[in-house]
Amino acid sequence: MNEASLETGESSHMNKVSAVIMAAGQGTRMKSAMPKVLHAVAGKPMVWYMAALARRVADSSVAIVVGHGADQVRDYLQQEEQALAPYFVVEQTERLGTGHAVQQARSVVMAKAEAGAGHCLILNGDTPLLTEETVRALLACHQSTQATVTILTTQLDNPDGYGRVIRGPQGQVIKIVEDRDASVDEKVVQEVNVGTYVVNTSFLFHSLETLKPQNVQGEYYLTDIIGMAVSQSLRVSALVTNDTNETIGINNREHLSIAEKEMRNRVCRHWMQEGVTLLDPSRTSIDPGVIIGRDSVLYPDVRLEGATVIGEACHVRSHTRITNSTLGDHVQVEDSCVFNDVIVENGANIGPFAHLRPGTIIRKKAKVGNFVELKKTDLGEGSKANHLSYLGDTIIGRQVNIGAGTITCNYDGFRKEKTIIEDNVFIGSDSQLIAPVTVGQGAIIAAGTTVTQDVPSEALGISRSTQMNKEGAAKRKRALHHKQDPEAKN
Ligand code: UD1
Ligand code: MG
Repeated sequence: MNEASLETGESSHMNKVSAVIMAAGQGTRMKSAMPKVLHAVAGKPMVWYMAALARRVADSSVAIVVGHGADQVRDYLQQEEQALAPYFVVEQTERLGTGHAVQQARSVVMAKAEAGAGHCLILNGDTPLLTEETVRALLACHQSTQATVTILTTQLDNPDGYGRVIRGPQGQVIKIVEDRDASVDEKVVQEVNVGTYVVNTSFLFHSLETLKPQNVQGEYYLTDIIGMAVSQSLRVSALVTNDTNETIGINNREHLSIAEKEMRNRVCRHWMQEGVTLLDPSRTSIDPGVIIGRDSVLYPDVRLEGATVIGEACHVRSHTRITNSTLGDHVQVEDSCVFNDVIVENGANIGPFAHLRPGTIIRKKAKVGNFVELKKTDLGEGSKANHLSYLGDTIIGRQVNIGAGTITCNYDGFRKEKTIIEDNVFIGSDSQLIAPVTVGQGAIIAAGTTVTQDVPSEALGISRSTQMNKEGAAKRKRALHHKQDPEAKN
């Protein structure tokens, strides 16, 4: 690839770079009710990758052309505004082709006084694996060759579906022919158009005005501007990349799965370089927004999603999914746990089979064990809930022991109520706490108790009925059964 960089060679040729993302297509081949660009790759919609890339590279306006499902795409972009702004959304009300899509961005791109003298980076909305490095190399190639149009191309073993790059006898690019319009000879060409272009802005909008939809699909093809530049003896450059992983244009679900795998590999490679151990990267799924501290170890089949942060030297065992959660350092997560919107402090120990729901905080060195569900619950430092419990809307102090089978009854069918369990409390197994209720510091709740009223500090709360033992009753019962049915067991 061309080594020159955009920043190092600031010449008059380059001026400002604006960007247009074509994201209006329906994506018929996806067979989906959702617009194509909202389909996610590694947890983020394709349009997010394209917009984030354009924002990083362009130093002038970024236009996103929406059309099919425009409101949905707009709503999504608005949610992500903080990460992606500033950008302009323009609408292509009829989908008449990629050339027509870019034309809709004319007023946005030309609005800047210097725009006519600048250059426009055009991105397909469906190439989310494209890297900043490659786009910068494309811009550098455009600059160093003083081109009017520069395209990114790659060689594919199977070029089906892509526009073919047709070159002349000296190897110069002559035109791009779409798959459906290609002759038998042209179909054999394996060099394809990736759908990433840098074009002199005034040439771009002049030529778009003269496009004609004379092709099998009856669409205004952006790709026709290449032939137009050539016929006006303007320079067309092509940067050939041999990284075919990053150039995939997602048109159907199979492409989506290929992109998903590649994006996941990319993220896994990054974290391994940063000092994280992945026991089997091919079975580890980490969203691009996740952060992981060094010396953490992820076992196979772990999923880390959304804005999750994992501290240093944590161990996360198999079949655990952690979403939008923050874990401190030295946290041990056993197999098959689900975390959603929770905070876990240093040295805590979770699972196996724990379900931590939104609003939960597990303080330092606390322990949540087998088949325990927590919702909006603060489990204090060093406290333990080791077996078979539901704790909801509960504040638990330090060094508390929650016995097996404890349930906080936080919902009476009408309202959610709070349970407060103060420091050093011992809750015996199979207890229920009917909220709202407070168990004072150092109190003990006897096993099998239903707590319906506050328990003072250092008190013993017990609500069991007195046990009765009937001497010999078991033996007599067995004898009676045998008499009635000699075959009976026991
Ligand atoms: C396009 C290129 C093809 C290239 C391929 C690379 C054209 C004519 N063809 O084909 O040369 O090899 O990408 O992946 O450009 N879009 C709009 N409005 C429209 C039509 C499309 O915004 O009216 C958007 C789509 O949402 C998509 C992008 O433009 O993000 C490309 O459209 P798509 O239909 O995927 O084009 P391809 O057939 O893949
Ligand atoms: Mg496509």
